[in-house]
Amino acid sequence: MTEFSRRGLVGYGAAGGVAALGVAGLFAASHESAGAPVVSPQRRTYSPHELHQAGIDTPAPAITTVVAYDLRSSTDVVALARLMRSWSSDIDALMAGRGGLGDPTREMSSAGMSLSITVGFGPRIFTLPGLAAKRPEGFLDIPTLRTDKLLARWSGGDLVVMVAADDETSVAHAERVLTRDAATFATVRWRQTGFWRGYDATGAPATGRNLFGQVDGTGNPSGETLDRAVWVDDDTWMRGGTTMMLRRFQLNLDVWDTLTRERQEKVVGRNLVNGAPLNGSAERDPIDLTAKDSDGQYVIAANAHSRLAHPDSNSGRRMLRRGLNYVHDEDGVRTSGLMFIAFVRSIAGQLTPVLQRLDQSDALNEWTTPIGSSVWAFPGGFPADGWLAQRLFES
Ligand code: HEM
Repeated sequence: MTEFSRRGLVGYGAAGGVAALGVAGLFAASHESAGAPVVSPQRRTYSPHELHQAGIDTPAPAITTVVAYDLRSSTDVVALARLMRSWSSDIDALMAGRGGLGDPTREMSSAGMSLSITVGFGPRIFTLPGLAAKRPEGFLDIPTLRTDKLLARWSGGDLVVMVAADDETSVAHAERVLTRDAATFATVRWRQTGFWRGYDATGAPATGRNLFGQVDGTGNPSGETLDRAVWVDDDTWMRGGTTMMLRRFQLNLDVWDTLTRERQEKVVGRNLVNGAPLNGSAERDPIDLTAKDSDGQYVIAANAHSRLAHPDSNSGRRMLRRGLNYVHDEDGVRTSGLMFIAFVRSIAGQLTPVLQRLDQSDALNEWTTPIGSSVWAFPGGFPADGWLAQRLFES
């Protein structure tokens, strides 16, 4: 299977045009529009040996499971480094489709499933002996917010693994291998699985929709703007890495469904048909925060989510968002929501101020409740003859 090192992304993981599709994707886009079943257009095989770990700016495949672990009290820094070496071997083999080390079910592993495995560290890691000076810039927990209804079961953790693929079998298998190999070092704190559709009926890349039905991801940066917003490019152990916030929002779909479409569109400032800003007609039309209607009112309302989250309202602060829809059944009750994921160079510098602004006056707050929160530091990819975050453990 060909390895695609080119990265492209528009929206929440929909690749930035046909050029970013894999060969199989081009095939799907051009040959499957005449009634044949549509498959996810990706079918890639990623390498963990790039500057950046896969699973951050690579297009979001169908399924992602995020697992947070707590270190066992017996796991010191030396043991943590041992776990990173063991996981690196697993990741190398799993992403290539060869199964894990000593994996009794290695035939479940397959290349071409767009499998990415992304590993990160929680804030407590930087309180371990010898690691305090290695804390990435601005890597601090999110302060308590007015609208928080956070639950421990969806929050915090010492280590995170994001396993994403075109199909659930690949995700379940890879996650099981990694969790099994971590068992002597760490225990699972929480698991969250989400899904995203980053393509349309013809298999062509398209911005996905959250469970409110909104086109979600349009305003994401790309190219150099994305690079500047997301990647650490200094000479520390974090080179090629980034930091991430995951907030689990419960969405009140039942009440949302009772609003008029006009009201729903006003809340975000974009239409529901194609995600166009209310001052335009196509998804990619520039959003105009100054436009006024004939009554002198802002077309994008003062408390509209797109206005309050926009870089122009936040001293230019930008982030790369990568959302995942979820449904969760418990005791016969279904809850639905969005696993809101954002990547930035600095949580404190780029994310906290935007969150605080949204917390105060975002119109969306009425139907969304944050029930989980965590922050993570992701190192870059690792060389074929090295291992994940190796420089974190070197003096
Ligand atoms: C349940 C919670 C949320 C929902 C349903 C939601 C939904 C949306 C939608 C529909 C858009 C417009 C389309 C687009 O540009 O992607 C948008 C834009 C955006 N959202 Fe959210 N969002 C949520 C939470 C957040 C949070 C917590 C943040 C920040 C920490 C955030 C930051 C942004 C940004 C930066 C934009 C792009 C603004 C622009 O440049 O035009 N969102 N969101």
